[in-house]
Amino acid sequence: MANKIIAPSILAADFANLQIDIEMVNNSSADWFHIDVMDGVFVPNISFGMPVIKAISKHAKKPLDIHLMIVDPDRYIQTFADLGGAILTVHYEACTHLHRTLQAIKATGMKAGVALNPHTPISVLESIIGDIDLVCIMSVNPGFGGQKFILETYEKVKQLKALIISKNANTIIEIDGGVTDQNAQALAVAGADALVAGSHVFSNNNPKAVIGTLHSLVKSDS
Ligand code: DX5
Ligand code: ZN
Repeated sequence: MANKIIAPSILAADFANLQIDIEMVNNSSADWFHIDVMDGVFVPNISFGMPVIKAISKHAKKPLDIHLMIVDPDRYIQTFADLGGAILTVHYEACTHLHRTLQAIKATGMKAGVALNPHTPISVLESIIGDIDLVCIMSVNPGFGGQKFILETYEKVKQLKALIISKNANTIIEIDGGVTDQNAQALAVAGADALVAGSHVFSNNNPKAVIGTLHSLVKSDS
């Protein structure tokens, strides 16, 4: 993939002024909105649900990259499609019948993603990589923004890149958690195509400039 993708995570936005932050992303060089849905069961936190995503969708002018940190995601696939999702990512650890789930996501017209927790090896995707549009490698334990990046991620990115090439697949590699201007370039060099960034973007007084800097960091080595 030639152009790397930067996806600001709305989890780190100001929920009392959501429209302002959505317009900021609209007017920035960001590529996608990353939307984290947490159910308090799969992860020890609850974020937001359908009414909030509906409000985001109304104003967002870029694709919604929805990351489900929920058990039994099959129940809501059509709902997230109706809400305007472009990519729907489920967790490997939450899906007993992952192949069926991916086909159900694609049947709605959305791209199908699979997220891996930090302890889950890349090898579990060997038999299904050809069916996956995006793999989200969690570089923190899912559930919260603002955590420290796990260094083992670099090795997983390289392994995933090798798997994608060996199977002649067309899968996007996304990194989620603890992404900053300190690791963006190295992640791109290792093979990442899409970087999610929450607190690094929204904690800055000039979030648009941060997004621009992330883009320039990944461009120079792509
Ligand atoms: C974590 C979420 C991430 C989170 C990233 O469970 O999946 O998308 O928003 O936040 P930062 O960039 O602050 O680590
Ligand atoms: Zn996420």
